[in-house]
Amino acid sequence: MGLIISVSNMKGGVGKTTLAFNLADAYLRRGRSVALVDADPQGSLTELLALDDAASAPTVAFLDPTATPVWADAPGRSLKATTAGLDLNGHLSDKARVAHREALAAGGEVVIIDAGPNALNHLPFLEVSDLWIVPALADGLSLQHAAQMGELAREMGKPFLVVLNMVNVRASQTMGAAIMLIETYRLRERLARTLIPRSEKINQASFFKEPVHAYAGAMGRPFEQLADEIDRMESKR
Ligand SMILES: Nc1ncnc2c1ncn2[C@@H]1O[C@H](COP(=O)(O)OP(=O)(O)O)[C@@H](O)[C@H]1O
Ligand SMILES: [Mg+2]
Repeated sequence: MGLIISVSNMKGGVGKTTLAFNLADAYLRRGRSVALVDADPQGSLTELLALDDAASAPTVAFLDPTATPVWADAPGRSLKATTAGLDLNGHLSDKARVAHREALAAGGEVVIIDAGPNALNHLPFLEVSDLWIVPALADGLSLQHAAQMGELAREMGKPFLVVLNMVNVRASQTMGAAIMLIETYRLRERLARTLIPRSEKINQASFFKEPVHAYAGAMGRPFEQLADEIDRMESKR
């Protein structure tokens, strides 16, 4: 059975798109087919996928690990994009629902949705998701937004994982403050063990529209660890 993961946080610039893209890459490299859904009207994920279709986001891209490459150093992927859509009320269009269903019907697939910063407008995407990944920076506002996402997830009965991004473990005071806030917001048991470090390589990969693994090898490791962590979580459910 397929797994639908949404990546969301109302806060912008916390690494949602980067995480969605690189998590997809991690799954592809372990031979799982992936459908990437760009539900952010800004269309950043669509741009990363070089689909030249950002204006019509949300977009759904099907990535097949057994077909022709779409990005450098990534053996065997094909990319087929279809434009999905939200209606004026922010509801998932029939076309998008069909795309999700198609993606799941193939079996063993992963659907990753970049829900963008307006997650509340994208409730339908969150509703169809089995797991919410909430990237957050180690800062007050970003964690506050993560806590709001957490509350919503609890209300909707959805499992969620807060993933700290752009972490500088040497900034011990910041990390201490972040951990305290995480406790206050009752997010401790929802905090991913995987920490994504602040890394120029992670940022630079975006210039080439490449996953971090393809651009900088070992720096792609945290995204693999996150995929492992998600798989372990799912196998326990
Ligand atoms: N771990 C990281 N280290 C360094 N830069 C990062 C990291 N994660 C994301 N970035 C950069 O931060 C910016 C915002 O990331 P993005 O994924 O676009 O966030 P969002 O989708 O939440 O708005 C981008 O320029 C991206 O390249
Ligand atoms: Mg984004």
